[in-house]
Amino acid sequence: MTDKGSIRIVNTVKEMQSLTNSMRNEGRAISFVPTMGALHEGHLSLMRAAKEKGDFVVVSIFVNPTQFGPNEDFEKYTRDLEGDLKKIEEIGIGAVFFPDVNEIYPDGHETYVEVEKLQKPLCGEFRPGHFKGVATVVLKLFNIVKPDIAVFGEKDYQQLQIIKKMARDLHLEIEIVGMPIIREEDGLALSSRNAYLSLEERKRALALSKSLGEIKRSFNEGNKDSSQLVELGIKILKESQIEDIDYLEIRDGKTLETKELAKPGDVVAVAARLENTRLIDNTKL
Ligand code: PAJ
Repeated sequence: MTDKGSIRIVNTVKEMQSLTNSMRNEGRAISFVPTMGALHEGHLSLMRAAKEKGDFVVVSIFVNPTQFGPNEDFEKYTRDLEGDLKKIEEIGIGAVFFPDVNEIYPDGHETYVEVEKLQKPLCGEFRPGHFKGVATVVLKLFNIVKPDIAVFGEKDYQQLQIIKKMARDLHLEIEIVGMPIIREEDGLALSSRNAYLSLEERKRALALSKSLGEIKRSFNEGNKDSSQLVELGIKILKESQIEDIDYLEIRDGKTLETKELAKPGDVVAVAARLENTRLIDNTKL
């Protein structure tokens, strides 16, 4: 264990378990924010919420190999512990869990978790195995930190529903809290992957939030026909030369089932690629 300023950095599972065990024995409520680092205001908003809800905040920074596909950005994903620690300094985090890959996946590891139905559509269709990797690492982190509360962003909407379902199905005594998407002033959802965008791509990327906004506006004006609403959104993406669209869909906000007629509480979710950068965004109707 090392102390960087006032933040404790923990590298091993054993040390992390014994630290939160002793905090729990002192009667402190533990709140937890799992991340892959490359932190931005979206992550910080989760940490502030965790700080309000618990007495001892743990943040994990771990780029989880099992949730990346063979041709995805695992190798190139930003790793900047020093920069991340500076950003979270003033929040008042109790500990940062920063393990090696071998610590989480030692030789011979072969146990995985799957949330069978919820993992299939949307991102699951375009990133096979992704949510199996997410559910597995999140359950591992939950077993290491044993938090009372865990905070996730609605930015990864399907991920949040999967974690909630896993917590319910596996009787985890953890309150799963979802927090709203933090955006740039012009509407672009903050993402660690925005750093990959060129200036020109950054401008075109605005079409994602714009298309969601237009769908919502049309829905509020009385258009409930899902396929018409989706068409409207796709037109806006294409106007910005975004042709490589994984999906733009309207689905039930909880079950993620498809809808012919949209209703309040449904989610509009989009994933599209600008060259090699895959961006996601969503909004609730
Ligand atoms: P990562 O992409 O680092 O995101 C960590 C958390 O920050 C997630 O709960 C995500 O939804 C949230 N987040 C990201 N951008 C946000 C934004 N603009 N506004 C609000 N919240 C935002 O998601 C993961 O890591 C991983 O899959 C993880 C859960 C850590 C498992 O490896």
